[in-house]
Parts: sequence; structure tokens; C-alpha cells
Amino acid sequence: MRHLMSPLDFTTEELSKLFDLANDIEKNPGKYAHACDGKILATCFYEPSTRTRLSFESAMTRLGGSVIGFSDANSSSAAKGESVSDTIRVISAYADICAMRHPKEGAPMVAASRSLIPVINAGDGGHQHPTQTLTDLLTIRSLHGDLNNFTIGLCGDLKFGRTVHSLINALVRYENIKFVFISPPELRVPDYVTDMLDKKQIAYEEVIKLEEVMGDLDMLYMTRVQKERFFNEEDYIRLKDFYILTPEKMELAKENMLILHPLPRVNEISVEVDDDPRAAYFKQAQYGVYVRMALILTLLELA
Ligand code: CP
Repeated sequence: MRHLMSPLDFTTEELSKLFDLANDIEKNPGKYAHACDGKILATCFYEPSTRTRLSFESAMTRLGGSVIGFSDANSSSAAKGESVSDTIRVISAYADICAMRHPKEGAPMVAASRSLIPVINAGDGGHQHPTQTLTDLLTIRSLHGDLNNFTIGLCGDLKFGRTVHSLINALVRYENIKFVFISPPELRVPDYVTDMLDKKQIAYEEVIKLEEVMGDLDMLYMTRVQKERFFNEEDYIRLKDFYILTPEKMELAKENMLILHPLPRVNEISVEVDDDPRAAYFKQAQYGVYVRMALILTLLELA
């Protein structure tokens, strides 16, 4: 039995197969409409979500399976003090596969160690968000055509943004990727990430002003400032609008630069940018369904 805790749990060859499957699902949805008949997905979400939970539920429904679960810790027995370990033992009797989001880093891993069914980490604190990374990689491969040879700017909250940490970890396995980290000093990418890049001798640059590097980027990965992970409201208010991507700033970008964002967006991309053909973030959310369909099929050994 296999779980997904980190994007590194899959080799690049396995990821390539997963993305081929996701692209086939996109082109031929009818072929997969009964692939999970009789199977049940449990979505155990101890933290709010729109995309991750609903795209998992949409994925399982589109595969012919069913969905059970909770979207709020307070509507589960966690509110009475039940442990994640006990919850997953019980869910193992109710479902065939589980997607779990939890505010505590490592909680899905604890669940996986006690589970009798595959567990997917759907986001744990500020740590990892592997299925968002699969979504990001599929989007890049499908729209840019390759997972090698590009410069990617990651902009915003690089300290608390788990999607950023997961994506960097995943991209270092490909060839000739240059990272540009764009953040205020308070929200710079953690030292363990830059130490890892130094050790692997992977090129990166850290800057504060987006305009300085805009013209160099093949991809710009915008992120929101993670309000829920701040200890003090004053700091959040001071930093929340540090970056706002506008049509004027987009004039500095390459003609084919892709704008990605894991969403939800707050203010960091102005809504006028949505009509720019380079804005790929809503298409990215759509790829999230195909890649989660491919992941469910793979972990249930139905692919
Ligand atoms: N991208 C993402 O994880 O969105 P949700 O928090 O809405 O699931």
C-alpha cells in the first residue's frame, strides 16, 4: 500500500506516467467514468479548503466512486478530543482511500502510519502540499511543454507558503531550472530551502522588487500572504499588500510568461490581469482535478 506525503514520494519517471494519465483523462474523460465504481474516498479536512477538497471530491465522482468526509474539525469527533490515529483507523473501515488536510505539520504522516488505506497529504501546516505540487507540475508541463530549462519567479509569502516549499523540492529534480525568490525580508524562503539549493549547486537569486526581475521570468508563481500562520495581526496588515500584480507590471514580462497561483487569491493579482492570455491560474485549478483523478487511480492500483 502506498501513501502520498511529499511530491518526492514519486520518482520523476512515476510522475511522468502520472501526468501522461492525467492528460489522457483530460482528453478522454468517458474512458474513466466507471474506473472507481464501488470505491469510496474520505476527505478529512481539519482546516478550510475550497480547491483541494472539492477537486478531490469532483475527481472521485468523475471516476464513478463516492465521497464521505468532513470539512471542519469542529463537525468531527476531533472536537471531542479524538486523535488523528484513532480517526484514520475508523475511516479505514469506511473508505478505500483518504485525503487529509491538517493545520499540524506531520499529522497526515501520523495518520498514514496507522492507516489500513492509502492516505494523501492534502496540506499539513506550513510544511507540504504535494497534490498542489502535482497540479503545478502538470500545469507547467502541459502549458510550457517541458519540466526542464526555465526560470521561475516565486513571489509573496515564501516563508509560510507550503505550496512554494513543495514546488521547489519537486523542481530541483529537473534540469536547468533557475529560481528567483521575490519576497519582503520578513517572508523570505526558509534557510533550509536555500541550504538545500546551495548543496545541490542550483542557481537562485533573492530580490525584493518584482519589477527588477520580471523580464527574466518564464513563469511567475504568485502566492498570497498566509494570514492564518501569522502570530501578530499588525505584521500581516503591514505585509499583505506588498505585491500586487497589475496590467502595468505585466508590460515588463515576456510575451509568453505564464502566471501561476495556487489560489485562493486575495489582493496579490489584480482582477484586470485575469483577461491576460498569460494568466494560467484558473486553468491550473482545472488541472488539479485531472491530476487527482490520476493519483486516485494510481494509489488504488486501478491505472
Ligand atoms: N490551492 C489550495 O490548496 O486551495 P484551497 O486551500 O482552497 O484548497
